Parts: sequence; structure tokens; C-alpha cells
Amino acid sequence: MLNFNFYNPTQIVFGKGEMKQLDKLVPKDSNILITYGGGSVKKFGTLDKVMDELKKSNRKIFEFGGIEPNPKFETLMKAVKLVREEKIDFILAVGGGSVMDGTKFIGIASCKDEYIGREEELLTQGMISVEKTIPFGTVVTLPATGSEMNNGGVISNKENKLAFFSKKSFPIFSILDPELTFTLPKTQVANGIVDTFIHVVEQYVTYSVDAKFQDRTAEGILQTLIEVGKETLENPTNYDLRANLVWCATMGLNGLIGAGVPQDWSVHMIGHELTAIFKIDHAKTLATILPATWKVRKVEKFEKLVQFAERVWNLREGTDEEKINLAIKKTEDFFNSLGITTKLSDYGVKESDIDKIINSLKSHGMVKLSERKDQTLEITRKIIEKAL
Ligand code: NZQ
Ligand code: ZN
Repeated sequence: MLNFNFYNPTQIVFGKGEMKQLDKLVPKDSNILITYGGGSVKKFGTLDKVMDELKKSNRKIFEFGGIEPNPKFETLMKAVKLVREEKIDFILAVGGGSVMDGTKFIGIASCKDEYIGREEELLTQGMISVEKTIPFGTVVTLPATGSEMNNGGVISNKENKLAFFSKKSFPIFSILDPELTFTLPKTQVANGIVDTFIHVVEQYVTYSVDAKFQDRTAEGILQTLIEVGKETLENPTNYDLRANLVWCATMGLNGLIGAGVPQDWSVHMIGHELTAIFKIDHAKTLATILPATWKVRKVEKFEKLVQFAERVWNLREGTDEEKINLAIKKTEDFFNSLGITTKLSDYGVKESDIDKIINSLKSHGMVKLSERKDQTLEITRKIIEKAL
């Protein structure tokens, strides 16, 4: 196992009706900003429930709606202005990954006085050095990104989609009530299942360092997703099925299974370019790139792919190579069964678009990807070709 330093201070409040904890969790006698997306929280009554709780104590409440999927820098800067003008003490993000990520950035940018007027520069720093941020909590309405229990975010700016982290960007708390996710359209539930699956394999299908707990936990999450994925899609109001998906999404990217093991993230880096250029949903980009990556990188990932085939898909017959091929096929079938294609051409991406994707990766410094940093742009090109 590799050395590691694991830190995660987020308090998780999980379960049906747990919104009732909000009044206790959010500071009193302070200025609160509620951030949300394009309106689903209004339509389905989540915002009203939040308001009812927050109004139980003395607080001045402000709202900022309209954070779009793949949140835009420009939109978030409007919220930064509001935070400064109204001297906001605490932000409550109510929504999915886009709202949570956007809120993390709003908090950082609002406290970076030395960057006033050039906040765009913060987006290209990766790990942003932060002395303070606006503390925030979340009420999660979409299980997918794990943003509710991690310190990362992804912000879109023109044709760039850029990931950032900061030591101070963990939510103080996250309320995870699976019932709040019952109203999701099927395609977003499917996105959440696939995104979580791929978060886990980015930290698991690498090379072995004999990290037994991390491997078994990763396999447990993957098997749970396979077990409940299709069922929760078809039975959206079944509480137990959805509760399992919600917890898998959080545990898939809160640092636990990634501690002490090599991590890949090449699929995500390519996926971010595809979202930025072609506006394909995040999870849907990943579903096309993952199988292609495994086909092209079979040798480099051989040992872990065999383990994945045997332990996740229970494939015991045939040669190792046959097990891997079947495991890739089963993974593709699983994504397809959720209504998600594994072919980039289904989104209209053509061979003639590949140069643009490669140039974009190059301009973002994504020239040596994967767990061994040996995935060159030439290899990435082959992967994208295979994904078409
Ligand atoms: O905007 P509203 O009207 O709220 O509608 C949203 C949005 O259209 C809707 N929605 C959310 N909860 C709902 C609901 N509709 C009905 N009922 C509900 N309960 O769903 C749509 C998608 O929301 P979004 O927040 O964009 O989805 P997701 O949670 O998948 O987040 C995707 C973003 O997270 C980033 C992605 O790159 C993308 O920008 N990621 C963040 C990560 C992180 N912070 O660690 C890691 C991930 O790999 C990912 O990159
Ligand atoms: Zn993801």
C-alpha cells in the first residue's frame, strides 16, 4: 500500500426527513445564501422545505438560482458579487454536483481579495491555495459526483472545463435524503450510476499495491451499483434502492477508496474536453471513453482488469484475456442497459473532430495521463478513435 494522508471533515446527515436537522446545522444570527440550479428545487418543493427550516431561527436569507449544469464561471461571478455586497457568512448549496461545485468556487473567489478582477486565473491553478473560504453545507438532490463529501469542483469557462481543489472546500455538512432524488429524470439517475461506477474504477483499475481494504471496498461499491442500478432507475420511489445508490455515490469519491492506491483519472480528463466542446453530459462522455481505454490499455492494466473481471463480474472461466474481454463487454452492456451509449459517434462526434479534442487536451497540459503518467497524446488519440 502507498503512504497516504486522509482528511475528510464533512458531517453526513443521511436519511428520510433529515432536512429537519437544517436549523441546527446552519449558523444562526447570520447572513445565509442559498444557491441552486435551474429551478428543479422550486418545482419539486425542496426549496420550500429548506426555507421552512431556516426560518425557524434568526437569519437573513438570500437566494442565488440559475447555476447551470457544468457551472459557468460568469454565472458564479454574479454570486460572488452578491456574497461580497451582502456580507454572506454561510452558503447552503441545494442541488447536484454543478450547484455544489459552483458553491465551492463562489466561496473561494469571494475571499480572494488579491484576485479581484482576475478570478479567472484561479481556475487554472488545480490545487488553489486558500487561507479562508465562505463555509458551506449542502442538501443533495442528485447522487453522482461525490462533491457533497470532497473538496473538488469542476468549472466551465468558454471551451474549457477545469478541475480545482482546495484544502478548505469540504462542505461542513451534507444532508443526503434519498427521497429528494425521487424526482430526477431517468437520464440523470443513469448518469449518476455511471459517474459513480467510473469514479470507482479510476481509483481501482490501475495496478496492484496490495491495498486489500481499498480493493474490496471498491468492488463492493461496483457490485452494489450493478445490483441496484437498473432497479432504482425503473423504481424511482423505492427508498432502499435509492438509498444504496446515494451512499455509493458519496463513498465513491470522498477519498476513502483512493487513499493509498494509484489513481488514473484519464477517462475524466478526456471526458471534460468532450463536455466542453460537444456539450455531452459528464457521465455520458465517460461511458464512451472507459471501455475504449480498457481495450487500448489492456496490457498496462492487465492484473487489475483480471481482478475486476473475477471479483466484480464473477468471471472464472477461460483465459485471463478472455475474462478481461468479457468484463469490458459486460460493463458496456451495463451502461447500455441504463440507456447510456458507449459510442461517441452516437453524439455526432466524428473522426475529423479528434484533432480538436487532442489540441484541447494539449492546451490544458493533459499530455501524460493515467496512473503511471505514460498515456501520451498518441495513445489518447487511439482511445478516442476506438470510442467512436
Ligand atoms: O438545474 P436544475 O433545475 O436543478 O436541474 C438539474 C440539472 O438540470 C437536475 N436535477 C438535479 N436534482 C434534481 C434534478 N431534477 C429533478 N429532480 C432532482 N432532484 O439535474 C440536472 C443535472 O444536474 P448537475 O448538478 O449538473 O448534475 P451532476 O450532479 O451530475 O453534476 C455534474 C457536474 O459535476 C462535475 C461534472 O463535471 C459536472 O460539471 N463533477 C464534479 C465532481 C466533484 N466535485 O468531485 C466529480 C465529477 O467527476 C464531475 O466531474
Ligand atoms: Zn465524474
